[in-house]
Amino acid sequence: MTTAQDLAPSFEPQPTPLALLLLGREADPKSERGVDCPGDLPSPSDPDLVERARVAKEKLGDKVFVLGHHYQRDEVIQFADVTGDSFKLARDAAAKPEAEYIVFCGVHFMAESADILTGDDQKVVLPDLAAGCSMADMATAEQVAECWDVLTDAGIAEQVVPVSYMNSSADIKAFTGKHGGTICTSSNAKKALDWAFEQGEKVLFLPDQHLGRNTAVRDMGMSLEDCVLYNPHKPNGGLTDEELRAAKMILWRGHCSVHGRFSLDSVHDVRERIPGVNVLVHPECKHEVVAAADYVGSTEYIIKTLEAAPAGSKWAIGTELNLVRRLANRFAAEDKEVVFLDKTVCFCSTMNRIDLPHLVWALESLADGKLVNRIQVDKETESFAKLALERMLALP
Ligand code: 13P
Ligand code: SF4
Repeated sequence: MTTAQDLAPSFEPQPTPLALLLLGREADPKSERGVDCPGDLPSPSDPDLVERARVAKEKLGDKVFVLGHHYQRDEVIQFADVTGDSFKLARDAAAKPEAEYIVFCGVHFMAESADILTGDDQKVVLPDLAAGCSMADMATAEQVAECWDVLTDAGIAEQVVPVSYMNSSADIKAFTGKHGGTICTSSNAKKALDWAFEQGEKVLFLPDQHLGRNTAVRDMGMSLEDCVLYNPHKPNGGLTDEELRAAKMILWRGHCSVHGRFSLDSVHDVRERIPGVNVLVHPECKHEVVAAADYVGSTEYIIKTLEAAPAGSKWAIGTELNLVRRLANRFAAEDKEVVFLDKTVCFCSTMNRIDLPHLVWALESLADGKLVNRIQVDKETESFAKLALERMLALP
């Protein structure tokens, strides 16, 4: 006899080796790649949201200044009053004392730097607080303080000047300021290192090992042996006191989770696929990638290089995908071919947290007189971090 229980649908999860196929709509049982989404997807630049952002921004007028890092999505970047790399945006924020609100379309450490460099009555807003940076998170204040103790015990702290990449928390910038160091960005790292080596004999470079190594070896003529890698997860950084004493560059073991994925193979592949291609990469890429590239520089440098390139030239770019896609579209009209260096590298997921819904929410809240997602660095941290940032801004 059939019971009611037998007829009831079973909600027990059924084990299936193809559980992920749902994502690919079961069109290709062996792969999720290359499966089109049937149906019309809404525009990422939803016209209602575009209009709401426009109205809110207009209502705010000169009270708001919107900064957009080059890695931001197109639908966000269209509302930026200025775009730039982290160095340019830091300067632009400092040069806008009349704006009551600085809306930073970028990541957390950039908004902190803007807060440090702007006046007390100016409020910096990050539209989504989850827009952090995995590289910045790789150096915490406790770890860096412990590292300084290690350098002190090895008898070399006196000779060491800290140089911290802009992509670091306000705490790390404050540590840098307190210990006589400077901040740098990818567009002024060589100048910062030149300055640091005038102040001391060794540099502690935080937190991006690749920018530190690439600048030291490629731009300053040091050897790979002049550099050691300090691992904050190992006792004594994984180094002997002798190794620390012999090193010129003590590199923190941090990296960018996006740029760190470009490989030497991708450089070889693209040269084979596109004869005559110029390979242009960001200095956050690994040393072997940078060494094999034709040109290396910050996001601002990448854009300027493409602007100056002759029609008919071909370029493979190793940096974040939002920027490369925008450049590919822009320069196609000038007959310059721009491709992404490696097909397996993704967008920066934290940069992508800033989307149109979050921007609309932030702008509408401000227009309604409600301050949201303010990024505010405490006074003591700010004073030391500012010292380090101002040393950077004073570099020749
Ligand atoms: P720049 O814009 O300074 O080149 O930095 C790249 C980057 O990774 C920012 O997060
Ligand atoms: Fe951080 Fe890299 Fe993203 Fe820049 S691209 S925000 S360094 S994770």
